[in-house]
Amino acid sequence: MKSDYTSSIKFDKRLYKQDIQGSIAHVNMLSKQSIIKEKEASQIVNGLMEIKIEIESGDFPWKDELEDIHMNIENRLFIKIGDVAGKLHTARSRNDQIALDLRMYVKDVIKDVFSALKLLRNSFIKISELNSRIILPGYTHLQRAQPVLFSHHMMAYFQMFNRDYQRFLETYKRVDVLPLGSGALAGVPYPIDRQSVAEELGFSSLTVNSMDAVSDRDFLLDFQSAASICMMHISRLSEELIIWNSEEFKFIEISEDYITGSSIMPQKRNPDFLELARGKTGRVYGGLISLLTIMKSLPLTYNRDMQEDKIPFFDTSDTLLSTLYVLADLIVNIKINSKNMILATDQGNILATDIADYLVNKGMPFREAHSIVSKLSSIASSKGKKFSELPLSSYKELSDLFDSDVLEINLEKSISSRDIPGGTSYNQVEESILNAKNLLEDEGYV
Ligand code: ARG
Repeated sequence: MKSDYTSSIKFDKRLYKQDIQGSIAHVNMLSKQSIIKEKEASQIVNGLMEIKIEIESGDFPWKDELEDIHMNIENRLFIKIGDVAGKLHTARSRNDQIALDLRMYVKDVIKDVFSALKLLRNSFIKISELNSRIILPGYTHLQRAQPVLFSHHMMAYFQMFNRDYQRFLETYKRVDVLPLGSGALAGVPYPIDRQSVAEELGFSSLTVNSMDAVSDRDFLLDFQSAASICMMHISRLSEELIIWNSEEFKFIEISEDYITGSSIMPQKRNPDFLELARGKTGRVYGGLISLLTIMKSLPLTYNRDMQEDKIPFFDTSDTLLSTLYVLADLIVNIKINSKNMILATDQGNILATDIADYLVNKGMPFREAHSIVSKLSSIASSKGKKFSELPLSSYKELSDLFDSDVLEINLEKSISSRDIPGGTSYNQVEESILNAKNLLEDEGYV
């Protein structure tokens, strides 16, 4: 059927609640402004409420040939209340109607994202509090670099997802603008009261240019890009946990709930959920590119291309939300293998920087100290020993500044010494957890 090509009802029926709520607010305003009669308005409102019940109970006769959610509902209203239904669309166009429905929907989704992000950030707090003294190697270039607290590592992710929260909050502010009243593109020739509609629907302000209002999908792009960045964080986290969960690392064990066996190799415990989270990131990036491409050549104002905005958007919001919930639960159920973490930290020369810092504290320029510790490191590795296993004489050969206390440098001291804001010392991390908790407690909902 030809209408299959143009119809969007299969995917935009998800907007039914927003469409009906928006219509009711519009009709109430039309009657308050005496643009239609009170009695007509209440007939329309009652009809719309019945339609909502029909949709929610699965009795609504969806018709593909009626194209979209707006036409399906309006047509049903005609069947229910007759010609007066035709007054609903006074002073309105589908162009400002769809812009409204989408903005209302995005606002609801962002509120769900806030809750999901709160849960996830809370998981990092919980796992950090429960494992506040565990040490593991911190990596650069995936090479063991310096010892850090496991909780410091987890709280790094808290920061990432905290920025995501802030990005969604900014997005929310830009979505929270009422486009209704823009008509098809030029505004409407009726004495409408846009402010009262905004108040009824909970919008903070009104769009200021009718042409921009019906052709703008930046708010969806803001959402898509905030979602893409958030998924990028999720993907990095997933990758890290997959590595830690590997036979080679064995730093953690992912709970059975998020592991699947292989159909052929009985010994396998695959971290499928994390792999899928990493994989779904690609889909979300795809949504961003898709919408950017849809919009890139559109002259003002509304163009039908824009109907295609919903497919990536719905997919992105579903993917993002389900992934956030999975990760939030997965994190708190991780089993930590602290023995292997400390074993990995205690191997090799992870305290090299600390020894260089020791010399610096005794007055040596850092570059010189760096080169001395490099030499010390070669000696240690050629003998297959750790720094702490070398005799003091090996140190003294390289610099007079070494004293016996150099042999006391250990992992705990290394951690404690980084006691500056942002550092991995026990105190600092404890404080950062406390601050994070307060932040979540104070986080108001919009
Ligand atoms: N289904 C359309 C969309 O999603 C609604 C707006 C249609 N407007 C129009 N002039 N055909 O964009």
